[in-house]
Amino acid sequence: MFCDMEGFTPLSEMLGIEEAYAIIDRVYEILIHKVHDYEGTVNEMTGDGIMALFGAPVALEDAPQRAIRSSLAIHREMAKFSDQLRQEKKDVPPIKMRVGIHTGPVVVGTVGNDLRVEFKAVGDTVNLASRMEGQAQPGTTYITEDTFKLTEGLFRFEGLGQRVIKGKQAPVSIYRAIAPSTMRTRFDVSAERGLTPFAGRERELELLLDGLERSKAGRGQAFSITSEAGVGKSRLLYEFRKAVASEDVTFLEGRCLSYSRGVAYHPLIDILKANFDIQEGDGDLEIREKAKRGLKMLGADEASTLPYLLELLAVKDSGIDKIPMCPEAKKNRIMEAFKQIALKGSEIRPLILAYEDLHWIDKSSEEILKYVLGSIPGARVLLIFTYRSEFVHTWGAKSYHSQVMLNRLSNRESLIMVSHLLGTEELDKDLEEFILEKTEGVPFFIEELIRSLKDLKIIERENNRYRITKDIKEVTIPATVQDVIMARVDSLPEGTKGLLQTISAVGREFGYDIIKRLTDLAEQELLSHLSVLKDSELLYERGIYPQSTYVFKHALTQEVAYNSLLLKRRKEIHAQIGGVIEALYPDRPEEYYELLAYHYGRSASTDKAVQYLDLANQKSIKLNAMEEAKTYFEEAMALLDTLPETEENRQRRISLLVRQGEAFMQLLKILEYYDLLSRYEPMARVLGNPELLGAFYGRLGQCHFIFGHYDQAIETLTKAVELCQGAGNAEDAGHAYVYLSWSHSDRGDYHQVLALKEDFLQTMEQSFNLHSYTWVLSAASRVYACLGRWDEAVEEAQKALTAAEEFSDNSLISLVAWNMSIVHTWKGDLARAVEWGELAVEKAPTPADKALAQRSLGWAWCRSGELKRGIELLTAVLPIFRAGQFINSEIPLMCFLGEGHLLAAEDEKARQMLEEGLEMAERCGFRYYAGFAQRLLGESVLKTNPTQATPLFEKSIAIFQEIKAENQLAMAYTGYGRLHKKQGEIAPAREYLTKALEIFERLATPIEPNKVRKVLAKLPEA
Ligand SMILES: Nc1ncnc2c1ncn2[C@@H]1O[C@H](COP(=O)(O)OP(=O)(O)OP(=O)(O)O)[C@@H](O)[C@H]1O
Ligand SMILES: [Mg+2]
Repeated sequence: MFCDMEGFTPLSEMLGIEEAYAIIDRVYEILIHKVHDYEGTVNEMTGDGIMALFGAPVALEDAPQRAIRSSLAIHREMAKFSDQLRQEKKDVPPIKMRVGIHTGPVVVGTVGNDLRVEFKAVGDTVNLASRMEGQAQPGTTYITEDTFKLTEGLFRFEGLGQRVIKGKQAPVSIYRAIAPSTMRTRFDVSAERGLTPFAGRERELELLLDGLERSKAGRGQAFSITSEAGVGKSRLLYEFRKAVASEDVTFLEGRCLSYSRGVAYHPLIDILKANFDIQEGDGDLEIREKAKRGLKMLGADEASTLPYLLELLAVKDSGIDKIPMCPEAKKNRIMEAFKQIALKGSEIRPLILAYEDLHWIDKSSEEILKYVLGSIPGARVLLIFTYRSEFVHTWGAKSYHSQVMLNRLSNRESLIMVSHLLGTEELDKDLEEFILEKTEGVPFFIEELIRSLKDLKIIERENNRYRITKDIKEVTIPATVQDVIMARVDSLPEGTKGLLQTISAVGREFGYDIIKRLTDLAEQELLSHLSVLKDSELLYERGIYPQSTYVFKHALTQEVAYNSLLLKRRKEIHAQIGGVIEALYPDRPEEYYELLAYHYGRSASTDKAVQYLDLANQKSIKLNAMEEAKTYFEEAMALLDTLPETEENRQRRISLLVRQGEAFMQLLKILEYYDLLSRYEPMARVLGNPELLGAFYGRLGQCHFIFGHYDQAIETLTKAVELCQGAGNAEDAGHAYVYLSWSHSDRGDYHQVLALKEDFLQTMEQSFNLHSYTWVLSAASRVYACLGRWDEAVEEAQKALTAAEEFSDNSLISLVAWNMSIVHTWKGDLARAVEWGELAVEKAPTPADKALAQRSLGWAWCRSGELKRGIELLTAVLPIFRAGQFINSEIPLMCFLGEGHLLAAEDEKARQMLEEGLEMAERCGFRYYAGFAQRLLGESVLKTNPTQATPLFEKSIAIFQEIKAENQLAMAYTGYGRLHKKQGEIAPAREYLTKALEIFERLATPIEPNKVRKVLAKLPEA
């Protein structure tokens, strides 16, 4: 809050400097007092005004409200003072203050040397508040929208629209605070806005109603409703009041307010005003009349009650001064008067007295309540108190007093509230979990969180269903909730608060051993701080000291305490925590990589952060947790951006990048990976580290292979193998061999693949790598199958399987199995093909593995007659490969689907698929499938348009001859033979069919020879 006096200069000109200063002294006095009344801090004198903070350096609940109340009190006092002054000196201009208020975070620190220490607040919030003051008209208070939102309903405001403010890009909405409304608490405001339908609490309501019955029968009862902030004390009271509305009882309510602790008798005055129907704005005379009339109706003794009553109601000339007595005696009389009024009232009609929020009660009221409580057992009085758990009452145990402890809502009840607030029961599961986790059954938090989720458009309604639209990490704790929590944290003793803040950086849960090492406190002192935190129910303890673990009772408390740490301090603490974890677990650091990465990532030790992010990334890859791996990788890369580009850091970056191949592949994000590799290729080249460069090229080549850019792949991967082998890097050489083999295989250079396998096996002798081994052997198996050498194909695959099984690597088992499935489909052993396909799907641990496995199974199903199922599965897989740009996997899939449709007599669809597949296969040079697609296209037009079929079969035959894919060649011959037969060309028909039969028999392909023999048998004699 900034507060400035209007027209000081003309005043001093008129009165002379000396008198002007006397006036300004008075003005300061008023300002300081009115700030203190609401527990604000004046932290700067600005020449002719002040700057004051509310809620800083010590957090206060309702800080924005206090600031406005304080400003209104200032205007009031100033008007009085100005009138007084003008009575004395006629020509003095009226003195008016301009006040500006804004709410937000400020950095508060002490500045200056030992001689002069003062609080200094800096930052945007401070600047904007000052600008508000600059805008304000004399005698008014201007506030920003932020302050307005937090106090809406509690005051009357005038909206002044948006204004352009220096130093702010967007215009700022400004409001003028006019006067307090009749509402005084958060609950009043929510009640005015419309309450969330009441959930649960049947039992508690029942208890209160029972109590009323007993009170009505003359057995006075008292209840204390207690809970943490926001759990629903006021709401329960409200519901109770509603429930008894039709009964013939008097219901009076009094309240302690967050800023009224210094106002003696506050809640009692409330009750008296309600009882005697005294309104805001009633003059002394009216109050006196109402009080007199009321006392008469009650039949109370006027002489012993009226003066005390009037004194409490701040009526001038209450008459109390005329009665000579000491303050102690006066207090006793007030108590007595109050009790009389209550008991007399209850004789006319049962009386319910409710006192809210005793945690803010003033001492004098507390004594009176204790006294009243003692006198109700025989009266028709029901007393209800509400207070937060931290308040400890002093009235001891009484048989007619019961405690009603409100627990947080259950998940079910919370969700009922949420569905009311959102107007639908349809929530995404993750949204539901997020809300439950953040709010933990505190209704106030639920309401505020949902409001801010809506305001910030973090959730959105779509067809009656709510879902999260943004990153949840962007959700900040609503200011209202922060206020409540921070006020509690700040009320802790200084050392304890510091400890709480420190450990908030560790996490929601933490072991004693960590805290012990983190602080330099002596054991005894530390334990005493912890016990304060336990007693105030901020933490609870699990296990037995010294093995105990502590848990923040509420996640939000941890967050708020953590957010209250300055960035610099946070960084220090995180670095310290990292150090402690390293020291505590020197033997098993792997277990803590993620945690260490987390803490160092938030410290200034970026170097260490990168180191642990890297390790956490490697660990995740090993565990096949690729999403997590990718996150760690990205964090590490981002941190590396902030480090100087030294030789070492470049190495780290390239090594990191190289290790992500499998992760990006499994996540089907090869395109993204390729972009990264391309971006850093120049860096990798200039590093002058052939071993690393070889590994790098291996990954680049892998991408080329997946995109079906075989020439580029072979060129890059050949370089990779050379570099790695030259540098003795067997592991990455192995990796490059994998994709080199498969690239050659796709291109149809089968002898190359088999030759590479021999080189590869030699490399593996230096350093065995399961992954490369399985993949290279699978490539060899595939090549044998292409060549129609079935036994060798199975033999190679079997070797790969044995190795994968030995290490129980499901991803690799799945790979071998889907490859086996394809081999068996080609061979025509379809029962086996289905079995292998099913195994592959079952074992596949990741979406990428699964897609490949399903491709094989779908095709095996199609071939074995389960067309519908097969086509469905293949169709479902297609978009996965397309999205991931897995061209080399998409090509066979298109062909399989084409064949499926062909078998299902869906000729049009079949042709479409096959033509597309053919086009892609030719573009990439994937020879086998170019031949495959052409043969099937030939089959598809064989019946209807034989002339068109001829070139298709001929091209197919040419390809298979060239790459020596014998079995496919025989299939093509068969088709070509049938085509001739159809055209009545018997001799060539016989010739091609015989060639086919000869190959099938030689390869020992099952089924096919018999089919060919049948066609041959039906050929007419030449
Ligand atoms: N059982 C409930 N069902 C629905 N809404 C509830 C329930 N309990 C509380 N609320 C809502 O939650 C908000 C907070 O409740 P309330 O103000 O009664 O808490 P409190 O315990 O009095 O908090 P404080 O200690 O700050 O006074 C209110 O808006 C209230 O209407
Ligand atoms: Mg309340």
